Formats: sequence, structure tokens, C-alpha cells
Amino acid sequence: MRLPPARGLITSLLFDRLAGPPGAPFPDARATGGLDDDDLQLALFACYELHYQGFDEVDDRWEWDPGLLGFRAGLERRFEEALRAAVPGPAPVPPREVRQALTALTSSDGGPSVAAFLQRDADLPTFREFVVHRSIYHLKEADPHTWGIPRLSGGPKAALVEIQADEYGGGRRERMHAELFRATLRGLGLDDSYGAYLHRVPGVTLALSNVMSLFGLHRRLRGALLGHLAAIEMTSSPASRRCATGLRRLGAGQETARFYDEHVQADAVHEQIAAHDMCGGFADAHPELAGDILYGAACALELERRWAEHVMGRWRRGAGSLLDERVPA
Ligand SMILES: [Fe+2]
Ligand SMILES: [Fe+2]
Repeated sequence: MRLPPARGLITSLLFDRLAGPPGAPFPDARATGGLDDDDLQLALFACYELHYQGFDEVDDRWEWDPGLLGFRAGLERRFEEALRAAVPGPAPVPPREVRQALTALTSSDGGPSVAAFLQRDADLPTFREFVVHRSIYHLKEADPHTWGIPRLSGGPKAALVEIQADEYGGGRRERMHAELFRATLRGLGLDDSYGAYLHRVPGVTLALSNVMSLFGLHRRLRGALLGHLAAIEMTSSPASRRCATGLRRLGAGQETARFYDEHVQADAVHEQIAAHDMCGGFADAHPELAGDILYGAACALELERRWAEHVMGRWRRGAGSLLDERVPA
């Protein structure tokens, strides 16, 4: 993947530094943007990407450059402030009630249903746009939550490994969820290479991935990371069914729909493991972090709600939801 074009002062400064050798000094990042700010979210995404696949033209040593890490910390402070403003800290909850509280959170109305629209009404170019947004996470599916494995022990660790093993296809490349999603992209005539559409997605989409990296890369936020994963797993199965139905309505074949078919089955199981064995077990072992689990779940749902508002608002007006023109049909 190559660095995308900058979107403002923060990304201009960051990408200018990343184009050269590590060690160049950074000024203090006085970021002001919020959860949907294109410049802030792209800068954070690029900083985090150094811990994943990186960028073709960026020196790998930037990953642990002290100046860059200090700069990223400034961006993260702003991101966390914005999250705290949007998602109130959850009330303390007894560990035994965590599972029930997660169920209550994930079954409340999350705003406009993108999946219902895709199932019944979306045309093919709109479905392609949806998949372009989702490619930012699905092509690295499971990686951000994998940071949680070495931060856990005992039952919750075993539960997270069980979920992640499925996400990675049980060790079989063709069953890895990221690979299944590449087939979906190809089936819709889109570029299946990692990060191909980074330059097209707005900040509100990047925030969905950034929050996972934030939670995953900070041990202090491990409770929130587990709650975030539980929220994804507990809402995925019915939405995936709708997406698969929508794709077939539009004439897609088996390979194109397989990513969603797989999630109808897998996430019905993952939901149970995540809520009970992983989050419930973690709350039992760390009662002081039980509230963090719910906070992480609430952040996942709130960012998803904001993203849904963005895309549905555009689509209802007949406008595109990506940064440039609509993806060519
Ligand atoms: Fe998955
Ligand atoms: Fe899953």
C-alpha cells in the first residue's frame, strides 16, 4: 500500500516526515478534529498502519520512532477525548451482569439500518460503495483484536484465541475471512489489494478501524478491546444474512456472497463465546474493568451508528458516500 494524499495540516506534516528517514523531529500535535475528521482520522490510521502491513515507501523503522510515537500520542489524546464526549463512561456493573448488559446494549436501536437497505433497496454501485468502506477493516479482519491475546490469560485468552482462529480460517488461507472478503471485492469488480481504497474513505469510516487499534495497542484499554469485539460479534450474524440476501438479489454468485454466508454461521457461535467465555470470564477475573468492557462495546456501536448515518444520509439523497466520485460501475 502507498501513502494516500494528505487531507489537511496533520497528514501533510506526517506524510512529509514519513517520506524521509526516521528521526526527523515532530512538533506537538495539537489536533482539534473529532470522530469524523478526515485529517485526524487519516493521520491516526497511518500511524497505526506502521504496526500492520506498513506503506511501500515508508521506512519500517518509523514504527518505533520516539518522535512519531509522541506525535501519535497527541492524536490519540484527541481521539479519546472525542470518544468520551460521544460515549459516556458506563456505570459500574457487577461482573455477573456483564453478559446481560452487553445483550441490552447490542439489541437497542442503533440508528439507520444499512444492512436492511442493502438487503432490499441498494443498487449495485451502492453495494460496491458499501464494500469499499468495509474493505478498510475486512482486509485486515481480526488483526486489531489479536493484539489482545498476549494481554489475557486463562479462560478469556482461550476464548479470544478460539474466535480469532476462526477469523483466520483455522489456518487455511482460503477460509481466512480477509481472503473471503477479497473474493467479494473481486466478484463486484473491485480491487482486492490491501488498502486499495484508503484514499476514498472518509474519516467516519477510518474511525471504525482506529478505535480497534487504539484499544488493541494499549494494555490499559484491554477491557474495552474485548467489549468492542463482543459488540461486533453480537451484531454481525443478522446483518451478514441481510448482506448476503442483498448480494444475491443483485445477481452475485456463491463466491461473492461467501464472506457474508460464513459470518451468518460463524458469528452466531462467536457471539456466545465473546459474551460469555471472553467478556464474562474477563469481568470475573478483573471486576474493576467490567465497566470498560461495556464502554468498548458502546464505542463500537456509536461509531457504527455515525457511519450508518453518514452513508444512509448520502444514499437517500442519491449522492455518493466516498470522498470522490462513486466507484465506477
Ligand atoms: Fe470474521
Ligand atoms: Fe466473528
